[in-house]
Amino acid sequence: MRLIIDTDPGIDDALALLYLAAQPGVEIAAVGSVHGNAPAPRTAANARRVLDEAGLRDVPVAVGAHRPLAQPLRTSEFVHGDDGLGGEGGDVDVTRGESAAEQLVRLARANPGRFTLLALGPLTNVALALLLEPDLPDLLDAVVVMGGAIRVPGNRTAHAEANVHLDPEAADLVLGAGFRLTLVGLDVTEAVRVDSAWIDALNASPAPVARFSAAALRYYVDFYTKALGYRTFTPHDPLAAAILLDPTLATYDHLAVGVELTGTHTRGRTVADLRGNRAEGTGHRIAVARTVDTARFHSGLLAALTR
Ligand code: BDR
Ligand code: CA
Repeated sequence: MRLIIDTDPGIDDALALLYLAAQPGVEIAAVGSVHGNAPAPRTAANARRVLDEAGLRDVPVAVGAHRPLAQPLRTSEFVHGDDGLGGEGGDVDVTRGESAAEQLVRLARANPGRFTLLALGPLTNVALALLLEPDLPDLLDAVVVMGGAIRVPGNRTAHAEANVHLDPEAADLVLGAGFRLTLVGLDVTEAVRVDSAWIDALNASPAPVARFSAAALRYYVDFYTKALGYRTFTPHDPLAAAILLDPTLATYDHLAVGVELTGTHTRGRTVADLRGNRAEGTGHRIAVARTVDTARFHSGLLAALTR
């Protein structure tokens, strides 16, 4: 499987990259950074740092969109630390060349139907790529997006999940564009929070990738532990990566999903018509993950990070 990854590392993004790097049969062809958990140059540096840690020094990282399409830049250092990587980001230089959107379009045009896109941050780069290349949905094999909340509350606001909240216009464009798309939202990511024993098992591993993951995770675990009152974290982006690799991990609804762009209280809410998967429903349908085999996901993630 050949992947292009659009990402805003981000501690859980970093775990997703490390998880994928450990999978036989997966080729990470290119990575694009996007604003989100930290500004885009910082998330590019973090992506570089994580790929180097995984031994993937040849995988290119393109710096992506510096701000959302139609609202001011907001970032999430309060969840991921000042450097976006729990203090493990380090001082890494990423040379500016083509943008992440340009890289995505170039690779997709040169290899029609060969790449799967995994999008783990706000969807600004993917929206920009669609503006550059309207046939992008036919040029990619599939797209898996971590984002949204269909039947559950948001996390960044009462209604909006963070990746959608940080660029609602981009998300609306991408979800309706006609991609063969799987949406992995809070409905499933919040159902697979790890427990204290899982964190202890990771911390106990001497494997270099586990050491790095455990160090970056400290900040993230503290954030979730304070917010929820028990020791845990939510592996949002690793779950999207795992479902991409093995779609049988989840069950799905097939729904047309739009994004609320004007609501005073609900801007950034992902909205689907849930009245029974009607055949006559309007809009492009996507696969929305509804339930997950949590035990299988937890053991696969731990195995990959402690290898
Ligand atoms: C998403 O927001 C980010 O903070 C995480 O990296 C994840 O992609 C979860 O809402
Ligand atoms: Ca992310």
